[in-house]
Amino acid sequence: MRIEIPRELERFGANLFYGVQKVYELDSGLKPDEPADHPCTVKQLSYEQLYEIEKDMVIVIPTKGEKLRLLQGVLYGIPHQCLIIVVSNSPRQPVDRFSIEKDAIERFCTFTRKSVLVIHQEDPALAKALENAGYPELLDERGTVKSGKGEGMLLATLLARLTGKKFIGFIDADNYFPGAVLEYIRIYSAGFALRTSDYALVRISWQSKPKVMGSGLYFAKYGRASVITNRFMNSLVGYTTGFETEVIRTGNAGEHALTLDLAMLMEYASGYAVEPYHLIYLMETFGGLNHSLQQDIIQKHIEIFQIESRNPHLHEQKGDEHVEDMIFAALQVIYHSPVTPKVLKKEILEELRSRGSLKKDQEPPKMSFYPPLGKVNLKTFRHELSGHPCAAFFQPVPAENPLVREHDGKRSRKKTGVKAHRL
Ligand code: GDD
Ligand code: MG
Repeated sequence: MRIEIPRELERFGANLFYGVQKVYELDSGLKPDEPADHPCTVKQLSYEQLYEIEKDMVIVIPTKGEKLRLLQGVLYGIPHQCLIIVVSNSPRQPVDRFSIEKDAIERFCTFTRKSVLVIHQEDPALAKALENAGYPELLDERGTVKSGKGEGMLLATLLARLTGKKFIGFIDADNYFPGAVLEYIRIYSAGFALRTSDYALVRISWQSKPKVMGSGLYFAKYGRASVITNRFMNSLVGYTTGFETEVIRTGNAGEHALTLDLAMLMEYASGYAVEPYHLIYLMETFGGLNHSLQQDIIQKHIEIFQIESRNPHLHEQKGDEHVEDMIFAALQVIYHSPVTPKVLKKEILEELRSRGSLKKDQEPPKMSFYPPLGKVNLKTFRHELSGHPCAAFFQPVPAENPLVREHDGKRSRKKTGVKAHRL
């Protein structure tokens, strides 16, 4: 891939928001170019370099009752070297749609000589493991994992952590173009190849979203929800720094990827608020406005890449009400953020009232967030799932190193520099 370096950089505490970067070549060759004798504004990332990153990447496909053809198409687009997790919340009655999905994925695995980790969000074994490992927040009153895209993503992130991979990327199951899926994953790898920190987030900014208009196609630049979310997020950055900005172009980025170190550190919102809240959470926690910053993070920074895809994004149309719900969810998290100034809160209320989403004098209800996954006892979680099919995907735990001793229930290291294993 050949990709421009970011033209813009907005600092927000320890967060580095890079402006949108464009792709100049989807494939720029196998090996690195000869070094240039002048500074370059376009970076070549060789296939080999991206391949090495993809070997360390888990791709998660959240799905709920999508057309089988679309889910299959997404699988076809994922490079062989990535590990795939499908987290399904598809109905099991009256027709067991999940079983049908599993059959199709098994056939895909036979033809591609690949193993895919497929789970159902409501699998009681996963819920029990979560509860015993100290993360009951994700469970509902029935004791199963709550419904919602964000909830499925959280569950998959924990499983991904146990595979020992470094990166996690998300791709919606309702994408019509397998070629676009491949491009998104190459873009994730490109972002990670450019990162200088262990904490990085890569978000896709679509070049266009085609719509049928009359007898032709119209390639809209932004989705209806993104226009609104981006506007208010940019105002938040602008009001805080004192300089108006348009740096945020991916307020709702369903297609995004994170280093697993960052994914374990974040708090999460539920449902479709999950992606807007990524950015808000980073501003709240690492923006230096409310919390004192952790030394490690100040030194390493959090890098937020926004990279524009060349393929158009074509997915299932789910109706106006769904778009309004997404706008509401995004504005709700911005409204209730402690870093949002009063003037912006007022603007949000006006927007929601004018859209008919709130009545006069009404405020958006407060929402609750999921604590960082870092609080999960991974040892227990792994142990609880030892008999479950997903255990086959977990990284084996190395045999206990005799140089690492237990003291007072905590691990300590002898001065030999041997690291205690995280899991
Ligand atoms: N596991 C799981 N559980 N998956 C779900 C659930 C659930 O409860 N609900 C929805 N999904 C899956 C869908 O099947 C789809 O694959 C993906 O999550 C996204 O859902 P859509 O309903 O297609 O959302 P959208 O297209 O309107 O919005 C997408 O793009 C936005 C803008 O980039 C989503 O990815 C949003 O989160 C994103 O903000
Ligand atoms: Mg969709």
